[in-house]
Amino acid sequence: MIKGYNSKITGCGAAVPEQIITNADLEKMVETSNEWIVARTGIRERRKLENGLSSADLSERASQEALKNAALDPAELDLILVATVTPDHQTPSASCILQSRLKAFKAGAMDISAGCTGFIYALSVAHQFIANGVYRNVLVVGVEVLTRITDWEDRGTCVLFGDGAGAVVLQVTEQEKGIINFTLKSDGRGAELLYLPAGGSAMPASYESVKNRMHYLRMNGNEIFKFAVKVVEETIFELTKEENLKPEDLDLFFLHQANLRIIDHVRKHLKLPPEKFPVNIDRLGNTSSATIPIALYEELVAGRLKEGDLIAMVAFGAGLTWGGVLMKW
Ligand code: UT7
Repeated sequence: MIKGYNSKITGCGAAVPEQIITNADLEKMVETSNEWIVARTGIRERRKLENGLSSADLSERASQEALKNAALDPAELDLILVATVTPDHQTPSASCILQSRLKAFKAGAMDISAGCTGFIYALSVAHQFIANGVYRNVLVVGVEVLTRITDWEDRGTCVLFGDGAGAVVLQVTEQEKGIINFTLKSDGRGAELLYLPAGGSAMPASYESVKNRMHYLRMNGNEIFKFAVKVVEETIFELTKEENLKPEDLDLFFLHQANLRIIDHVRKHLKLPPEKFPVNIDRLGNTSSATIPIALYEELVAGRLKEGDLIAMVAFGAGLTWGGVLMKW
């Protein structure tokens, strides 16, 4: 990979809704049990955004905090990238709404749609603009209000998802720090393994589409699981090999939080200790493109993510998409 200017994360922020949905709450809605959910997914509770609020509210809160922590005036932002599959509207973009709320009027704005890999894609795009010397200050947000596209009658999916947002400010730096390399992958042949059938041009909203519950996520969990454990490990090896590193040289692995069993499977295969694998799926469920930036924020606040740490962030999701970023904090 040709290296240009260095880019590093100078501020993180996160926002989750107040309302908690526990496994006991779900037991009252579908035929499931706390035991099944904990054993098969590791999830104990998730957050649900209150009616009347939208993804823009979560991304605004997370972004304000990231900007404050980076000590950056929103007016200095060159670009805003929002990774999401649950924007406020199909058009205009979530990033334009966020730009207006932040009064970041110098910034260009666009959304990145790459399912749960969205944050990795957006961070890599942000890095490119900085590495090429085009921009200095980029805001990258992963935000999701998946509870709005979850079928609360489908026990196979409704126990999994939650709402949340994470944001980072990526800035040019002269230090030998920040993003070292990244990899972005996709395989569109797996498009129907995780998808939202209606609401796009293929199946616009109609009486039939609503009646048949086509505006909710559909997923083949088993296939995604098998794909995930394979590509997460491959991605870690690809990122480290390019820098002549081994997985054990890394301090922390921020893996997409889709199922605790996926994280544990990869960790055990790599023979690494659990302390190196931050987890928030137990408290937040799968927040899609927000899982990794929220985890970054949480580890930073807890003092477990430290200056000089070598970290990998790896995600996978709808598309199919997958990818990772290697970074020196
Ligand atoms: O963000 C990226 C996208 N998503 C993912 O990465 C998800 C990846 N996949 C998974 O995490 C897992 O496949 C699931 C958690 C979705 C499902 O776990 P599983 O161990 O693969 O279960 P399964 O689908 O093979 O189902 C096993 C059984 C079935 O019953 P039968 O056919 O054996 O009688 C299901 O009907 O468990 C049943 N089941 C449930 N039982 C209680 C499925 N969902 C539930 C539930 N409660 N919520």
